[in-house]
Amino acid sequence: MRAAIITLSDAGFAGRRADGSGPLIRQLVEAAGYEVVYTALLPDGIEPLAGELARLCDEDLADLILTTGGTGFSPRDLTPEATAQVTERPAPGIAEAMRWHSLQITPRAMLSRAAAGIRKGALIVNLPGSPKAVGECLEYILPALGHGLEILKGTAGECAR
Ligand code: MTE
Repeated sequence: MRAAIITLSDAGFAGRRADGSGPLIRQLVEAAGYEVVYTALLPDGIEPLAGELARLCDEDLADLILTTGGTGFSPRDLTPEATAQVTERPAPGIAEAMRWHSLQITPRAMLSRAAAGIRKGALIVNLPGSPKAVGECLEYILPALGHGLEILKGTAGECAR
């Protein structure tokens, strides 16, 4: 499966902060067997991200699109809004699972407004911004995402119940 990784950060886009989360996501998804076909660092806000997400999905450039950052309460944290704008079918269980797992680690997990959803043949998942949060969320959701993507692509076998 092909993965795309998009980091949302005004400070990162302006060159004032190094992106630790994007490279960590690459490391974790490659270890899980994904081929990383695209990475980008975008400023916060709806339009740049919504445009990139729609392009990646509509041109069938990736199967899984992971974003990091912009899920909190800052006025510029608009990653979930960009995601909602382009997704055709929400997949709320993925964000619920991340928050459920993360709440065992920190009550601040409730402050992430991360969303997930499907557009055409691609699954979009928002992750929080810090490398710590990225690691904690991905370790929990990654094992189940493969099966979801197989169902989305029509290549899944029987569901183990
Ligand atoms: N989830 C996990 N697993 N671990 C964390 O440390 N940090 C939280 C939350 N989710 C955190 C987490 C905090 S402090 C914030 S403000 C929100 O994610 C939003 O982060 P973002 O704005 O960088 O996306």
